[in-house]
Amino acid sequence: MYWKSLLATAVAVASTAEAATTLRFSCSQLVVERLDPLVNPGVTPSPHLHQVVGGNAFNSTMDYTVHDMPTTATCTSCTPIEDFSNYWTAVLFFRARNGTFRRVSTFGNELGFTAATGGQTVYYLTTGSGKVTAFKPGFRMTVGDPSFRTAAQIRKYPMLTFTCLQSSMTRSGATTDFPKGACPAGIMASVRFPTCWNGKDLDSPDHQSHTAYPQGGSCPSTHPVSVPQVFYETYWDTRPFNNKAEWPADGSQPFVWSFGDKSGYGHHADYVFGWKGDALQRAMDTNCNSDLFSNKINCPTLKVQTIEQANKCTQKVQVREDLDSWLTTLPGGMPVN
Ligand SMILES: *[C@@H]1O[C@H](CO)[C@@H](O)[C@H](O)[C@H]1NC(C)=O
Ligand SMILES: *[C@@H]1O[C@H](CO)[C@@H](O)[C@H](O)[C@H]1NC(C)=O
Repeated sequence: MYWKSLLATAVAVASTAEAATTLRFSCSQLVVERLDPLVNPGVTPSPHLHQVVGGNAFNSTMDYTVHDMPTTATCTSCTPIEDFSNYWTAVLFFRARNGTFRRVSTFGNELGFTAATGGQTVYYLTTGSGKVTAFKPGFRMTVGDPSFRTAAQIRKYPMLTFTCLQSSMTRSGATTDFPKGACPAGIMASVRFPTCWNGKDLDSPDHQSHTAYPQGGSCPSTHPVSVPQVFYETYWDTRPFNNKAEWPADGSQPFVWSFGDKSGYGHHADYVFGWKGDALQRAMDTNCNSDLFSNKINCPTLKVQTIEQANKCTQKVQVREDLDSWLTTLPGGMPVN
């Protein structure tokens, strides 16, 4: 069973992506707080709560003209030590039958990953056969739309999904809304960013229109440059919340994103590139990959640290608020809708 489902994963990755580079690594939790340097720069606290991994230069403002991540950061919570990028998503909450909220933790993905503090798995993939150009310093993007609440809306973003984990190895049955039933091994949230870039803008007013998904397998003429596919897998430890007696009386699923979405269709994620020098380009050019069954990265050009070392890279919370008891509202008072 174990081997069979792992094999299914390998085949799925290979056939959907024809990946030459399948660089996959663990990033431990850096900080969980209400900051969003991309969408709400300088706003402390930002409207909703995030979980963040990567370099410790993460801050409320990250203006790339003055904030050079590889020189500002002193450590990274990801295993490749030249990767000072930041990767973040919203945070999952459980809403009990009595209406109070409890934060859901993340956990390591168990493919040999033991990030004690949680975090997420990050992939950089090549999709297609042509040259892949690494991002430039200052590049950032978002994917998804926190205002979305319907299946029709999320069709705009083909690859934002949830997997109801029967075991940590489950890789089938992904949905674009939250799983409806209890998931014995947690919920995996997967996010694949667009892989085409307009070749000139490091950002855009909506943080998305400088990027695009391929059309019919190749990049559109408006966004001709193939960039690596950035892919997050976040394992949410919903296991402590599987008692249906605490779920809503009507039997509906009890999880909500920190921005108040109980459908799951508001799924979104943020990325700020921060690799040192040409390290990411070198990795993309040398067909790096990672062992399927462990945290081992097969990539001589990259220097890596252990997960235990990565776990030590954390940040002091700037926005202090109670996140770890039963809360009467979501942080920031985000309404559930
Ligand atoms: C965040 O930015 C503030 C203001 O520029 C600075 O004082 C602080 O040291 C920064 N924190 C980190 C962790 O870089
Ligand atoms: C609400 O429900 C949770 C889960 O059952 C429980 O732990 C908590 O104590 C309850 N809070 C109140 C105020 O009843």
